[in-house]
Amino acid sequence: MPAIVILGAQWGDEGKGKATDLLATQSQSSGATIDYCVRTSGGHNAGHTIVVNGEKFATHLLPSGILTPGCTAVIANGVVVSPEALFREIDGLEQRGVDVTNLLVSANAHIIASYHSTIDKVAERFLGKNKIGTTGRGIGPAYADKINRTGIRVADLFDESILRQKVEAALDMKNHLLAKVYNRRAIGVEEIVEELLGYSERLRPMVTDTSLLLNTALDEGKTVLFEGAQATMLDVDHGTYPFVTSSNAVAGGVCTGAGVGPTRIDRVIGVIKAYTTRVGSGPFPTELFDEDGEKLWEIGGEVGVSTGRNRRCGWYDAVVARYASRVNGLTDYYLTKLDVLDSWEQIPVCVAYDIDGVRHDEMPMTQSEFHHAKPIYELFDGWQSDISGCRTFADLPKNAQRYVEALESMSGTQFWGVGVGPGREQTVLVRG
Ligand code: GDP
Ligand code: IMO
Ligand code: MG
Repeated sequence: MPAIVILGAQWGDEGKGKATDLLATQSQSSGATIDYCVRTSGGHNAGHTIVVNGEKFATHLLPSGILTPGCTAVIANGVVVSPEALFREIDGLEQRGVDVTNLLVSANAHIIASYHSTIDKVAERFLGKNKIGTTGRGIGPAYADKINRTGIRVADLFDESILRQKVEAALDMKNHLLAKVYNRRAIGVEEIVEELLGYSERLRPMVTDTSLLLNTALDEGKTVLFEGAQATMLDVDHGTYPFVTSSNAVAGGVCTGAGVGPTRIDRVIGVIKAYTTRVGSGPFPTELFDEDGEKLWEIGGEVGVSTGRNRRCGWYDAVVARYASRVNGLTDYYLTKLDVLDSWEQIPVCVAYDIDGVRHDEMPMTQSEFHHAKPIYELFDGWQSDISGCRTFADLPKNAQRYVEALESMSGTQFWGVGVGPGREQTVLVRG
């Protein structure tokens, strides 16, 4: 199984970090190893939690495989890299005794400089009540520069005169915008060139042609795990636009984001929670504003790993699950956080939407319709017992088995595993 993709099926924070760590270590115990763990989109807007022997780690820009001994972590061309965030994260892990020498960065990845986060924050303020609720990390402005062809790439940090020309071009329009529209001070070219050159020496040994590296690795039969960030419903094309991130978080984004063709991908695992959460603004049909929502938030510990913001909570949405199966061509689902539902007597699941009096079993075509979607619920009996110690499907109480089987039958893809706690060992494999 050489090329595996792990990605989020909802609005993020499904447990992709745990799934990545689980797969990496599971393969190790069976004799093989994950040779490469690769991030292909997004940046330090992500926050992935990994719990190893009870010790909690959070990765942001770094692939979670940085914590797996023997695994090379790769930041591929599709990622937007803040050197400041990169070295802060490396330093933080090194202080905790993690070996971070196995890290490679694409020469073609785009750079997030300080002006990108400045623009991200002022643009959000300017939008007022229409704000996206971004992480404020400069992700959108950096991707906008990439598409506008005014971006700075990692390789540019090693050629001072090219870097200066590119920074000049990048700041030209931005300074008009900052001064005339946002009423901010203009940013000096030299201060940015100095900021970026300050990282070049430390970055240089990590930089390589990651597309060549990964294709060669696949030719040699090595195992490559592509760790998705953000999620399907936050994808800039397939998500709840404009309330999305600025990259392609779906499976297709892995190919462009890594320079690896679609024919090389063997398995695409969607990670999905047994309920739903969302951070930031935008439509969310099953969102709860009552005690159940608060209870999900509290038991699920639904606070953002990157920004500390509270996540909005709601029931499982099978329409979203079917949509994610389709647009990603999923081969498996990994259902997480089933244990969070342990105490409910009955658990509603959204099976379809009522949109202006019409039943929709599939995602509606337009965002205007999606904004009007009202969930049609089916109720399932809860199991009202602690499942965190279950290790096989047969260990799960009958009602938990029925809940999982019902979700599987309506989600469009077979379930591979079920998470019953944050630890990597707290997983039930559905088919042994
Ligand atoms: P990611 O961004 O998709 O990697 O997810 P986050 O790390 O942002 O959020 C997922 C949270 O759920 C983390 O706190 C994980 O430790 C936790 N988690 C993952 N799987 C499970 C599970 O099966 N049960 C419980 N209770 N927690 C889980
Ligand atoms: P992981 O990988 C949840 C959301 C933000 C905001 C929108 C745009 O941990 O699942 P951005 O800063 O990307 O321009 O913000 O996307 N968002 C996430 N929500 N998990 C994430 O990552 C997210 N990354 C971005 O909250 O609504
Ligand atoms: Mg997260």
